[in-house]
Formats: sequence, structure tokens, C-alpha cells
Amino acid sequence: MKEKLKFNIEEFDIKLDTDFIGRNFLYVDSVDSTNKFLMQSKDNIPSGTLLLAEEQTEGRGRKQRIWFSLPEQSLTFSILLKEKIHFNQVNILNLATAVAVAQAIENLYQLKINLKWPNDVLIDGKKVAGILLESASKGEHFEKIVIGIGININQPFFKGSFSLTPTSLRLEFGKVVSREKFLSEFLNIFEELFLDLPGGNNKILAYWRERCRMIGEKIKVTDENVEKYGMFEDIDDNGYLLLKTADGTEKISYGDIS
Ligand code: BTN
Repeated sequence: MKEKLKFNIEEFDIKLDTDFIGRNFLYVDSVDSTNKFLMQSKDNIPSGTLLLAEEQTEGRGRKQRIWFSLPEQSLTFSILLKEKIHFNQVNILNLATAVAVAQAIENLYQLKINLKWPNDVLIDGKKVAGILLESASKGEHFEKIVIGIGININQPFFKGSFSLTPTSLRLEFGKVVSREKFLSEFLNIFEELFLDLPGGNNKILAYWRERCRMIGEKIKVTDENVEKYGMFEDIDDNGYLLLKTADGTEKISYGDIS
């Protein structure tokens, strides 16, 4: 008998403990990009709406990269947020998303996570999840934010070449894991962190710092074609990277580090 691998919404829903995130749940077999779909959504779509797709025909990653996901083996989804979020909170939201993915993995599978600025989630140096935040703004605030997340759950192997070696929870944990359980655990944690944001970022920052191996190391920051070298001093309260160079300390809001 063929194993039933379609996402089981009831199983997911029983474990979901959020007030609004994931409560309006859309599930499709295929879409161009879950981020693109929610970015173009009409005004009457509520905040917290989640779109989960088995397949994306134009899945996008950071820096115009392509994001591949395997139907029925990955979690490929986006969350729409319409709360009044100030510009300077966007990086902390990026970090909070990575922290929620990391905590869900640690809680359910006791795997050791490390985080790479701004929001890559790694196990043993290999990438298990990627996050792409997109936004539309109004004045000093965002009108809408879409957080797109791709998590490698049950892929048995990876083919092709990648900028960072990928891995899946199944490969690291040694067993097939439940996508439904993982998604609800992640959303429960994420909503709590999100609702706490106006009260301060200390918990997120402390957790993130503890899992970042690069703080204190010499790094290269690449943004478009500009390369900067220096020491990764810390992240500041808003989640910006502080790069120490011969000329002083520079705040970096965007880029790839290596
Ligand atoms: C990265 O690491 O470069 C970010 C990858 C983000 C991929 C997710 S999958 C769901 C959502 N829809 C997209 O088109 N991209 C994001």
C-alpha cells in the first residue's frame, strides 16, 4: 500500500495552539511561490493567514536564488502579517523566525542547531531551513509582511549543487518525522515570540547569540557586488550585524556572510 503523505490538516490543527497565526490555513498542491501569492493577496485576507504548498514552480530564495522543495517531503509555506510593524523591527522578525524554527527542532528532535546571520538554520554546518521575508510599506511602517519558510523535513538525499550543503530533519534525526507536528510546534513558538516583540527582544537575541558560531570571528559580508571584511562583533538590539573594521564599527542590515 502506498504511504499516505499528503499533509493531514486535522492532525496539524489538533496541535495548533495559536490565536491567529495559521488559523486561516490554505493548502495547495502547486503555486508559483507562496510568498508571491500572499504578497499579491487582497485586503480582506486576514493577518496570520498561512499558505502551504506541496510544490512551487518559482520558489525563490534570498538574493534571487531558486528554492527547491520536494512535494510531500518538505514544508514550504508563507505567513501573512498585517500588524503595524516598524521598519527597524524587520531584522528582529527575521531572527525571531529562525529562532522559532530552531526551538521547534530542539524541542521535538533534540538536535543541536546553529544559526547563521541573518536567518539560516543549520545542523552541523548544513542548511535545514531558509527564510525569505518580503514586505510592502506605508510611511514608517509595513503594510504587510510575508515570511516565507522552506524546511527540509523528510528528503532522503539531495541532488545538485548548493551554495550551502543542505540536510533534512530525517537525515539528521535518522527517522521520518511528522510535518504536521513540526508545523504546529513551529507556529506555536513563533506566535509567542511575535506577540512578545513590542515588549523587547532580549529573549530572541540571547537565544540567537548562543547559537551563532561566527560572533568573534573574521568574516566577509557580501551585498550585491560589494564585499566588506571585518570581525563579527555582535548583533545589536534590532538584529543588525555589527562589523568591526579598521575604520570603526559598521551596522549591516543586509547581506550574506561567510
Ligand atoms: C533562502 O534561504 O534563500 C530563503 C529560502 C526561502 C524559501 C521559502 S519556501 C516558501 C516561500 N516561498 C518562496 O518562494 N520562498 C519562500
